[in-house]
Amino acid sequence: MTTPNSGETYDFVVVANRLPVDSVTQPDGSVGWRMSPGGLVAALEPLMKASDGAWVGWPGAPDVELAPFEHEGIRMVPIALNAGEIENYYEGFSNDTLWPLYHDVIAQPSYHREWWETYVDVNRRFADATARIADIGATVWVHDYQLQLVPGMLREARPDLTIGFFNHIPFPAYGIFSQLPWRQQIISGLLGADVIGFQRVADAGNFARAVRRLFGYETKGTRIWVPVGDSSDADTGTRSHVRGAPVRRVVARAFPISIDATSYIELAKDPAIQARARQIREELGNPKTIMLGVDRLDYTKGIGHRLKAFGELLADGRLTVDDVTLVQVASPSRERVASYMQLRDEIELTVGRINGDYGSIGHTAINYLHQGYPREEMVALYLAADIMLVTALRDGMNLVAKEYVATRADLGGVLVLSEFAGASDDLRQALLINPHDIEGVKDAIMQAIEMPQSEGRRRMRALRKRVIENDVVKWSRVFLDELQNSTTVHPVSHEHPDART
Ligand code: F6P
Repeated sequence: MTTPNSGETYDFVVVANRLPVDSVTQPDGSVGWRMSPGGLVAALEPLMKASDGAWVGWPGAPDVELAPFEHEGIRMVPIALNAGEIENYYEGFSNDTLWPLYHDVIAQPSYHREWWETYVDVNRRFADATARIADIGATVWVHDYQLQLVPGMLREARPDLTIGFFNHIPFPAYGIFSQLPWRQQIISGLLGADVIGFQRVADAGNFARAVRRLFGYETKGTRIWVPVGDSSDADTGTRSHVRGAPVRRVVARAFPISIDATSYIELAKDPAIQARARQIREELGNPKTIMLGVDRLDYTKGIGHRLKAFGELLADGRLTVDDVTLVQVASPSRERVASYMQLRDEIELTVGRINGDYGSIGHTAINYLHQGYPREEMVALYLAADIMLVTALRDGMNLVAKEYVATRADLGGVLVLSEFAGASDDLRQALLINPHDIEGVKDAIMQAIEMPQSEGRRRMRALRKRVIENDVVKWSRVFLDELQNSTTVHPVSHEHPDART
């Protein structure tokens, strides 16, 4: 067992690929930090400040060797990655192997042994740093697909810790997951956690199935019984649970993530942001209908399908650029990964063609913005948009859908939402679509445009209730309560699982 450092130890440690801060160059040339505005930070910040918390993560640039530092009351513990590690661990194994595999092979995953080796090394570095700073009996919460080996490594080094893991992206069906040459090591790594959280019930079910198929461990509902001493390192072949052998109970279940709804509601009330929303409408030529898409430029988001549907509606004459415009924000993402470069070329070619074919001097069909924007500008766009298009082919949750709903206290706007986004489990009052069914997407767009105001308001009221009642603070509380229960109520036991049900 690794012993924590004598001085600097923390009761609550969050471990994520990125630190929740961005570096900023001050006017005097010095470099400072600014909290990045993600929902995870908003949910965990109060908790971390109150509970002596630390955040372990990568500062987001190559070769940044930094000593731990304090920012806005949170201890930041930076993990340095060199250029080769970024290439193999982040761009390679995380975003060109796991990302396409976990999103149902929308793009072809690449399998390279050297990427895997670097993934193991980098996960080890995160685990070692965490093991050094976690206090005896501390709670550690590991996040996402980049760090799936960390729970197992930590369990081995520090059996005293309570370990949670949350997967922010989908977990695929076994028929897809089983492609992964390192499938056993990944499952074994995840089983080091006491609680494994997923976005959707189906993701948790896929995980339990993979556990049964690869290891033969007993699962029942959300519970999995892992033989003690068997969870940290995978070897080949399945194993059966031996009756009477000591087992550790792991919980694997859905905890659908949400947004910091209050901050979006507050921003939407800001008169300056409301004025900016009016200005956006004017700058777009006051069209009858503004449609909006907001995504990272990622092949999982179905941007091409959305453009195809809009292009066909213009071609069919069901819509004209005099009446309708589409604003598509596509923020730059993972730009050194080949599939992302190819996607950018395809999308920009399509946008150019549609604008060329259907635009007029005064009216552009698609306002395409390959840029990232601050939250304030995003809220102004949400307020300006009559229709929000979320057409993801596969998406763990899709927080943009929830952000749009949170800002529309005026009950205006219609959400068109892909049934392949986790958000559709909760947001049933949206116009739900199958993005592969282009005719269906076109019909949903027309239905949104023609929707009577009373129906739009009724739907938006119901959607807002869901988002406001289930915000990210509740999400983290529910997860951490489950984590607490998992270790206090069900310690390691020699009983057969059936005896306890
Ligand atoms: O959805 C998964 C996720 O890793 C998010 O946590 C993150 O905001 C997004 O993808 C972008 O990821 P990256 O760190 O690769 O820019």
